[in-house]
Amino acid sequence: MRARKRKHGEERLAAAGAVLCQNKEAVFADAQAPFGEKRPLHLEIGCGKGKFSCEMSALHPDVNFYAMEKVSDVMVIAAERALQTAEDRPDNLRFIVGDAKELTEWFAPHTFSCIYLNFSDPWPKKGYYKRRLTYRAFLEIYKTLLADDGVLRLKTDNVGLFDFSLEEFEAAGMQVLRMSRDLHNSPYNEGNVMTEYETNFSSQGIPICFAEVKVK
Ligand SMILES: C[S@@+](CC[C@H](N)C(=O)[O-])C[C@H]1O[C@@H](n2cnc3c(N)ncnc32)[C@H](O)[C@@H]1O
Repeated sequence: MRARKRKHGEERLAAAGAVLCQNKEAVFADAQAPFGEKRPLHLEIGCGKGKFSCEMSALHPDVNFYAMEKVSDVMVIAAERALQTAEDRPDNLRFIVGDAKELTEWFAPHTFSCIYLNFSDPWPKKGYYKRRLTYRAFLEIYKTLLADDGVLRLKTDNVGLFDFSLEEFEAAGMQVLRMSRDLHNSPYNEGNVMTEYETNFSSQGIPICFAEVKVK
């Protein structure tokens, strides 16, 4: 049963080939190459089913987007969403099945002007803090990938993860430029595109925490 599911997943992944990048070396050599035009590059890490990156790429034709997701069965849903809406959007979105810890194998230093972490898994148990995508070892990866004046944007419903992240930003020498513990009722909500998780949490009345940081 499991083997059949994986095979089906592989077929769907192959069908989504037009929006997938699978060759690390090629992307590392030229991250602009998959796109028709050279534009500033943004990256979403842990894109889930792709609502955010699909909508952002439609709204911002002047930007080229990469969306990374480590679970291929989830990523394929995101890629299919992108293909279904391809006629309404510029060709400025590509997906990668991969783990954030491998990002420096995919991308050369200073590639991105913006990196998004949307509703990353909070890993609430103390012993698992190194798995959080805002743990300092991950922040060092993002610092390498950010262009001069590039920013990292974090959104989460989880106050514990948010507080942890603020401490890690400080420890990693990253400066908070903007932040709110209630994004949707803050001035920073203008232009905000909601993710799947964000839509779900905010419909339950849970405030969304937001921070934008850059390397000091
Ligand atoms: C809680 S979901 C949020 C999905 C989406 N960003 C949203 O806000 O609706 C977190 C996603 O991050 C992915 N993820 C977790 N750790 C990751 C990692 N190290 N590298 C890439 N993706 C990761 C998970 O597989 C999951 O799809």
